[in-house]
Amino acid sequence: MNDFAGSHILSVNQLDREAISTIFATANTMIPYAQRKKRTQVLDGAILGNMFFEASTRTRVSFGSAFNLLGGFVRETTGISSSALSKGESLYDTARVLSSYADVIAMRHPESGSVAEFATGSLVPVINGGDGTNEHPTQALLDLYTIEKELAGNVQSIDNMHIAMVGDLKFGRTVHSLSKLLAQYKNITFSLISPKELAMPDEVISIIENAGHRVIISDVLEGNLNADILYLTRIQEERFPNPEEANKYRGQFRLNQHIYTQYCKSNTVIMHPLPRDSRKEANELDVDLNVNPNLAIFRQVENGVLIRMALFALTLGVADQVTQHESEVNWFSRK
Ligand code: NCD
Repeated sequence: MNDFAGSHILSVNQLDREAISTIFATANTMIPYAQRKKRTQVLDGAILGNMFFEASTRTRVSFGSAFNLLGGFVRETTGISSSALSKGESLYDTARVLSSYADVIAMRHPESGSVAEFATGSLVPVINGGDGTNEHPTQALLDLYTIEKELAGNVQSIDNMHIAMVGDLKFGRTVHSLSKLLAQYKNITFSLISPKELAMPDEVISIIENAGHRVIISDVLEGNLNADILYLTRIQEERFPNPEEANKYRGQFRLNQHIYTQYCKSNTVIMHPLPRDSRKEANELDVDLNVNPNLAIFRQVENGVLIRMALFALTLGVADQVTQHESEVNWFSRK
């Protein structure tokens, strides 16, 4: 994929290494605007339809914030019950209607494949903000961008790294999309640590193995953590038939500073797509890690804005015009 302008971003399968580097290079140019050192109005007048039919905080707000940072307006639709989808309208019809009110749409929906179906009826680019257990391409891009930056700080690269993915690898869409992107690199060791019932889908494991990477499967945390990247995930309770079923797995894998010191490398980077489940039954990523310099979770959040700004600039064809619409920031801006 080289020509982003006017294109949907529905799956990581669309993105080859060249497309990924274009997105990352564009994300790097967004840093001064995201940090409020400068502002740009390159999308002045443009409208984002931010349509989230499933729970979301950071993805929804960061899509909106990214669009605002480029000078555009954000129109939000949340919840299926408050939209015509609850009156039996098809995704195609909803798309035909709503896309005539916006220049680009970001969408999350609980069913796998729903965002792609919606895109068939859309007059404007659609960016997948998560479709069921299937994919979460913008999260995977921000995770990959974070991995590249964090490893560069440790004088390492994505090629030859060891990543441990932990938790609900069956229902967690972020690990599905991230694994598919990582498969494009070289000689990676994947430790896939989950309860047996929540293992990574075979389809994703085949993609990794067929690309020549090494896969280690385990249901034990201790002893499998000496990776370069440790990517923890939440038990996706909303995908289980009932809460009791999800409770069986909650709290099974927990990381805290004590375990980190005992089992991780001194510079293992800790990642999580968030939200981390901090209820005491789960406490999957203890707050005592907040002062650990290798905890990258809040850097992931900041990188998410850069990636989403880049995707808007690219799909709307203005990536090369951002600086032409630049001005100074005259209010107090954070350090
Ligand atoms: C993830 C998601 O929605 O898939 N959250 C996010 O977008 N950062 C992970 C999760 O909800 O556990």
